[in-house]
Amino acid sequence: METKFIKVDLNNVEKEELKEAGEILRNGGLVAFPTETVYGLGGDARNKNASKAIYAAKGRPSDNPLIVHIAKFSQLEEIVREVPENAKKLADAFWPGPMTLILNKNDEIPKETTGGLDTVAIRLPSHPVARELILESGCLIAAPSANTSGRPSPTKAAHVAEDLSGKIDCIIDGGEVEIGLESTIIDLTEEIPVILRPGYISLEDVIAVTKEAKMDPGIMSENKKVRPKAPGMRYRHYAPKGNLIVCEGTKEAVVEKINSLAKQDAEAGKKVAILASAETESLYHYGDVFVLGSFSHEEEIARNLYGSLREFDEKGMEMIYSEAFETPHMGAAIMNRLLKAAGHQIITVS
Ligand code: TXA
Ligand code: MG
Repeated sequence: METKFIKVDLNNVEKEELKEAGEILRNGGLVAFPTETVYGLGGDARNKNASKAIYAAKGRPSDNPLIVHIAKFSQLEEIVREVPENAKKLADAFWPGPMTLILNKNDEIPKETTGGLDTVAIRLPSHPVARELILESGCLIAAPSANTSGRPSPTKAAHVAEDLSGKIDCIIDGGEVEIGLESTIIDLTEEIPVILRPGYISLEDVIAVTKEAKMDPGIMSENKKVRPKAPGMRYRHYAPKGNLIVCEGTKEAVVEKINSLAKQDAEAGKKVAILASAETESLYHYGDVFVLGSFSHEEEIARNLYGSLREFDEKGMEMIYSEAFETPHMGAAIMNRLLKAAGHQIITVS
């Protein structure tokens, strides 16, 4: 299949440019598009065959449900059994934006889209291309991240093309995304809201609106007996081909440890990468140093993480040492993705 590329000027998103993409979606085809978090691989959420095609293109297990993207709150009411008070409050606070709500579904969305579940994940994105595409297509758009299953989520159109070129109908290029980590998922089907996946919107942000909320214990522990509730959080994910190890502790101790490990590996002839911050970059003396960003701009760190993980593979890095990025607001989300990529290999030094 030939994949069509459409380049969009974000300062001036024209309906005309998205007409063809809208038609592809209405006809059951697949279109990758930018959102403020990561690029999504979209299909008509009401069309079982479109959902099946999404799973096939990504190589994704069919029990891992998709997120339904909407452009106005009334579209949520069309697909759920009831709208809890917390859904209204959270939508008022954070939509359009990087938040996904899990609610009990009615029969409007087929189970092929929800991985067989009776609940549905819903997000109202803020990205102008995503919003315009939903409106132009007239569809609700089911979209997982637009990567091959198991690879880091795409933060620019070139990443989508790397994974999916030739396998989907169209890629809309809207430049680099803003946030770079997937949305915060909040389950509203239980008594108190539960965060199933941390993201830009933090637990504290949610509690400020709903008074009560908690993290899914399954995502916090390495204990295999406590399973994450979101099927997608159970899979090994984002792992680079090289061996990634996170090192946590005081700044000095971390730098010393990483330098000594990197020295050993470099001397043994291995290709070594170090994932550092702007503040520590100059303190490393071995391997290739990748700077995610400065601790005073944690958004930068979040935005650059996935691109770096992809680069390690391109450059054939065999050993990768990363600092821990426990930043104030997005630290939970950054560390969740980083530790998954590391298969939870972490060294604590002091
Ligand atoms: O930021 C995002 O959320 C991006 C953009 C494209 O919107 N999308 C995204 O989709 O990250 P995906 O498919 O890569 O991740 C969806 C996650 C998976 O972990 C999945 O298991 C979970 O949401 N999920 C979807 N529906 C669910 C449900 N009904 N109950 C529990 N978890 C659900
Ligand atoms: Mg994904």
